[in-house]
Parts: sequence; structure tokens; C-alpha cells
Amino acid sequence: MTKPKVYVSRIIADEGLNLLRESCELHVWQEKNLMPRDVQLKLFADCSGLLTTTNIKVDAQLLEACPAVKAVSNQAVGYDNIDINACTAAGVPVGNTPDVLTETTADLAFALLLAAARRLAEMVEWIKQDRWTPERGMLENLGTDVHHATLGIIGLGRIGREVARRAAGFNMTILYHDLIRDPQAEQAFGARYVDKETLLSQSDFVSLHLPLSAETLHYIGPNELKLMKPSAMLINSARGQIVDQPALLDALQNGRIAGAGLDVTDPEPMRHDNPLLALPQVTVLPHIGSATRKTRARMAQRAAQNLINALNGRPMISCVNPEAFGKGRSASLCK
Ligand code: DGY
Repeated sequence: MTKPKVYVSRIIADEGLNLLRESCELHVWQEKNLMPRDVQLKLFADCSGLLTTTNIKVDAQLLEACPAVKAVSNQAVGYDNIDINACTAAGVPVGNTPDVLTETTADLAFALLLAAARRLAEMVEWIKQDRWTPERGMLENLGTDVHHATLGIIGLGRIGREVARRAAGFNMTILYHDLIRDPQAEQAFGARYVDKETLLSQSDFVSLHLPLSAETLHYIGPNELKLMKPSAMLINSARGQIVDQPALLDALQNGRIAGAGLDVTDPEPMRHDNPLLALPQVTVLPHIGSATRKTRARMAQRAAQNLINALNGRPMISCVNPEAFGKGRSASLCK
């Protein structure tokens, strides 16, 4: 039996590549530079499956140019790089990698919160500039307490819930806002459901855990920033475009909020001369939420298994549009 041809859009952990190698004709983009769009359209054209990362845009144009593609597996929990409607219409199931990265990403969100509160990145720079002298005053280097502060979590999904668990360990008061209430989290972490305005106006830290969609684009803009306390800090480890970044810069420059911790930016990558980086009260990380060895291995494994399952006529472990499976292009996989 011929093995299905699959393309992996950039080098991922061996745990995933080895799985794919066993049952597929495997092609991997080995270059350091990202695969240019015209090359994608050419190289993917006769592939049955694609394993993508968030820098590859899977849309109607790509699907049309690559008629053999029957399944797409995105190595990320987020899938804002993929036009799900176009995939569903074509009968192309799309896999993602939730669960395996939940705690790792929650760890990073909390690390960012702590770093912003206690000015960690700024303090490291301060020492490197030889500013740590015996004369250092008692009122220098002061930060903000995290313990017993109020944390507002916007989006109490898997990652938001794990952030709540960590916050409970720091004796924080936890507020949350989401489309639906989560009585279990309310019970487990003492989290209190509030509307968006209450959350923004009462929290010392606001942490974002929303997927990026048309509804959440610029979810935090000038009006939301105005509602926050001047002493509050915004933490974003979800997607950069959820925050209106020029509005955030303006709020920080004018002291309308006290600080920000960002693992995601708009655009990515952020360049060194971005004005946000000139502000000492801003901590920026290069989108490393899921970046640990173990988690990237698990993500690669999950993404590979999703693709293998679909190409062998079995449901993916985690699929964004399960209704697409077995219809249209993927109908032939299920025979
Ligand atoms: C995710 O899994 O969505 C991460 O943000 C990708 O880097």
C-alpha cells in the first residue's frame, strides 16, 4: 500500500517526526527561513496531509491550489492561522494540540505576571548597568505584591483555569469573565464571575486567555484600558491582536495603567525598536508559552497522531471541526 504523502512546514520534535515516518511519506521543510507562500502552494499541492505551525496560513486559496490535501494538523492549540470555514466546506478536518500544553502555558503566564509585578527584566538590566551600589535606597526597585492581590482572568478555558489554580496558591482574589460560567472553578479556586467592566475596574492584574477571532480582535482597546486601575497590569499570553497595541502603548506612556507583561505581540516578531520595549514597566517575551522540551515533544506527537488518525480514516484526537471528517475531500479516507 502506498503511504500518504505529508508535509511538515518546519522542523518539529523527533517524537512527532518519527511517528509520521512510520506510516507516511514524510517531507519536512528544513530551511531556517519560513517557507514562502508560492513554495507552499507548490510543495503542498500533491500532499494528502499537512502538519502546520501557526506561521502557515491555511485558507481557501491554499486549499484550491492543493486539491489533494485531505487533513490539516496544526501544532498549536490556537488555530487563527486557519480558515476553519473554508476547511469545513472542503471536508478537511483540522487538528490542534490542546491539553498537552495547558500547564506549561499557564506556568509562563504566571511567570510573566510575577516578572511584571516585581520588575524582574528591568532589575537584571539594572545590575548589568552597574547601578547596584551600596547607596541603593530603601525606596528603589520597589514592585507590586502578587499575593493577596486581585487577578482578573478573561477566558476561563483550560489555560485560564490553570492560571486560576496558580493564583489560588498565591492567596489571590480571583475574578473571571467568559461567555459561560464555570461553577467547578468557582468552587475549586474561589473564582467569582463578573462582567467585563467589573473585572477591568477591580483587578490588580488582568490576564488574557482568549482565542483570537473576529469577536476578540482588539478585545482590549482604549475604552477597556481606561477602566483599569492606574496601578493595574495587563498580562497577555494568548494572541497579540487581542490587544490594541497602540492603545496599550498610549495607556502605559500616560500612566493610565502601571505595566504590562506580553508573551505575544502584534505583529510577531516584535522588532527591537518597538516603543513598548523602551518602557521599563513592560516585560516582553518572544511567544514562548508552550516552549519547553517536554511540551514541544508532546505537541509534536499529538499533531502527528492527529494527522495519522485522519489519514487512516480514524477521528483525530483533537479536532476543531469534527463535522468535516468523512465529508468532501476526506470522505475517501473513511472507506
Ligand atoms: C498555541 O499553541 O496556540 C501557541 O500559542 C502556539 O505558539
